[in-house]
Amino acid sequence: MKLVKLLANLGYGSRKEVQRLIRAGALTDERGRVLGERDFPPHASIRFRGEALDPPFPLLLMLNKPDGYTCGADDPGSTIYDLLPPRLALRNPLLSPVGRLDKDSTGLLLLTDDGQLLHKIIHPKSGCLKTYHAVLDRPLEGHEAALFASGKLVLRNDTKPLLPARLEALGDKAALVTLHEGRYHQVRRMFAAAGNHVLALTRLAVGGLRLPEDLLHGEWRELTTAERERIFDGR
Ligand code: URA
Repeated sequence: MKLVKLLANLGYGSRKEVQRLIRAGALTDERGRVLGERDFPPHASIRFRGEALDPPFPLLLMLNKPDGYTCGADDPGSTIYDLLPPRLALRNPLLSPVGRLDKDSTGLLLLTDDGQLLHKIIHPKSGCLKTYHAVLDRPLEGHEAALFASGKLVLRNDTKPLLPARLEALGDKAALVTLHEGRYHQVRRMFAAAGNHVLALTRLAVGGLRLPEDLLHGEWRELTTAERERIFDGR
């Protein structure tokens, strides 16, 4: 990839703007030597106005999604992209959420520009389980775990039954729910099918990767190598 294209894809500007920046000497190597359009040193040694470049493609981030943000880049109102530095939201290919969370749901949201990885994580056959903590409006009645595990539950407006899911009660009005799939509003619709209502929903884990306790609401970071591997643990 040429320097102009790389910088444009990383969100530093249009190709024309990047060309102008290069001609103005904004790009150097780590020793301060000015780069021209034809130079293409290793990513790690490129500097933009003296600062290291944004991370290369492909990128995998985790975000602790707060309440009130939607996951679509073009959605009206606040979106998860508002929580990232502006340039990260301008990359091409764009970072996409790995299994969306509803506006009112919180917790672990992975974002990647690696389409293959995204499909590997969200595909039900990947066996990569997603774990949610649900706070309920009404006490559990005792039949929910069997209903969710049955493999026969068909949600309203769906025709295909859900894959078996696990419910672990955490007291009267709270539960952990573990899913193989990620249908639209799935957990909320499952509890609605059981005659209950979800008041708050948080994704706690994707595969063996748990939401880190030190990642506060609205904070994001890249995954470590060990965290990446944990996504596919426990399948
Ligand atoms: N299930 C839901 O109902 N909402 C989410 O955001 C995720 C799973």
